Amino acid sequence: MKRPAVIAHRGASAAAPENTLPAFQLAMRQGADGIELDVHLTADGIPVVIHDETIDRTGTGTGRVADMRLEQLRKYDFGVWKDPSFAGTRIPTLSDVLMLLDGWQGSLNIELKTDVVRYPGIEAAVLKLVADADRQSRTHISSFHHESLAVCRRLNTGIELAALLDHHQIPDLPALKRMGVTAIHPDVRDATGAHVRRWHREGFLVRSYTVDPKPLVLWQALCGSDAVITNRPLESALFLGHFFRKGQGRLRTDGK
Ligand code: G3P
Ligand code: MG
Repeated sequence: MKRPAVIAHRGASAAAPENTLPAFQLAMRQGADGIELDVHLTADGIPVVIHDETIDRTGTGTGRVADMRLEQLRKYDFGVWKDPSFAGTRIPTLSDVLMLLDGWQGSLNIELKTDVVRYPGIEAAVLKLVADADRQSRTHISSFHHESLAVCRRLNTGIELAALLDHHQIPDLPALKRMGVTAIHPDVRDATGAHVRRWHREGFLVRSYTVDPKPLVLWQALCGSDAVITNRPLESALFLGHFFRKGQGRLRTDGK
């Protein structure tokens, strides 16, 4: 059995405001193996990192990202909703994050949030930024909207693509293979041992979301998931450390 990689969901988002530079900095400091983030497109065509279609929940303003230019979005605070100590945190562009991650060896999971608003051109814009940052080999693109993955594949033959699945969604594996998708990102409730084994047999990696409670983290290790996407990267990694050797990620057999 292998130790699953630990991917920080929206950064270390239990402790810092999700999808912001402080959350990504903390994830790196905490030793996360990877970082997941969500991308939308501004009215002026710039990929920005935020989860929702609107800024209402995490920003100090209201309105749709798609209707606002970056200059306007930058006026709002995206940290204070989490804690006053994060006041002054601005919405990051994907470019800001790629700059922050420069030199970091972990993996980056860019989720294209195209399932509600389609954001024509987002795939090309994101792929260009990843290529310019020379991060293609350490990046994978995921989406619930699998047509976005097909667009990515048409634009770029090399980048790793991952299909996000809603709870209970049954993936069309042959169609995903034809698209060149090589990983499944299921809701953790669907990442049973039987499903993980099936997806592995079909040649897909499996990274489940969102895996916070420690029993779930251990269950995912037992089921054979390749990674857990978690809001608590430090706690998840420390917990897995009780069971697995550091580095190689193999189950401890020395009784220590
Ligand atoms: O990529 C895994 C997870 O982030 C998918 O759901 O809604 O948190 O973006 P959501
Ligand atoms: Mg996401």
